Amino acid sequence: MDQLNERVLAVAARYGQSALVPLLSIRNLHTWFPVLGGVFRRPVGEIKAVDGVSFDIEAGKTVGLVGESGSGKTTVGRTILKLTPATSGQVLYEGEDILPMSERKFRPLRKDMQMIFQDPFGSLNPRMTIHAILAEPLEIHFPKMTKGERRERVVELLRQVGLPAESMGRYPHEFSGGQRQRIGIARALAVKPRFIVCDEPVSALDVSVQAQIVNLLQDIQEQLGIAYLFIAHDLAVVEHVSDHVVVMHHGHIVESAPAAAIYADPQHDYTKKLLAAVPRLAA
Ligand SMILES: Nc1ncnc2c1ncn2[C@@H]1O[C@H](COP(=O)(O)OP(=O)(O)O)[C@@H](O)[C@H]1O
Ligand SMILES: [Mg+2]
Repeated sequence: MDQLNERVLAVAARYGQSALVPLLSIRNLHTWFPVLGGVFRRPVGEIKAVDGVSFDIEAGKTVGLVGESGSGKTTVGRTILKLTPATSGQVLYEGEDILPMSERKFRPLRKDMQMIFQDPFGSLNPRMTIHAILAEPLEIHFPKMTKGERRERVVELLRQVGLPAESMGRYPHEFSGGQRQRIGIARALAVKPRFIVCDEPVSALDVSVQAQIVNLLQDIQEQLGIAYLFIAHDLAVVEHVSDHVVVMHHGHIVESAPAAAIYADPQHDYTKKLLAAVPRLAA
């Protein structure tokens, strides 16, 4: 809490009255990919995956980002985390644009922003034990931690995601899909982030397990105050978690409103289509 106060004061000192800036502010973001053609693989055009997107994410809150496959959701998430270079626009983190920052300057912020994937199995090294998977980010970002402290932290992380401490000696293939997603969440939490991009974290799971993982993410948010960009291809999944919903289509935002308003009174035909097309998630 003290650390948080310090940050608020630091931001206040920098910005005076506008101290209450959002945690993240995405401004007119464009991420285009070159289309290569011909024998020489020259750029012959571009895919405008993200084409002028703006929205804010408040500290400790959830923005749901929905749209059908290919609408640019993952690219938005990756661009915010500087995993994919932006073509233009700004990503303000506590008021400061992170896009032009060098990797060296950005490094201390990198651990503030983590990502959870649809397929945790694909992102968990099958040859590493759960202990090794969770200790790795600790070694990178907290090099002064002792072995004992790391072990304690791994136990705490497992507890936070509802897995027994004994899990740490086992390998990813020994776990179910839902449990693997819990491990993916624990790995993201390891470095104490303030923001997590949850990229379709339940899309690959059985419906019964989906609600458990969504509830876990919500509990974690309540306890730790982490902000989420929660990506899903249908509106039902984000209904229970989002404070604000952004609907994307072909790289553009077609609707952006508080969650309650989107569900009660969708404005855009595309949003209505998304709402009509889906069964509701059992909560
Ligand atoms: N690395 C890349 N290179 C070229 N095109 C890409 C790349 N990543 C995504 N795209 C294209 O950008 C568009 C948006 O993709 P994506 O952000 O993955 O959408 P979504 O997550 O909503 O399914 C798609 O047309 C996709 O093929
Ligand atoms: Mg995607």
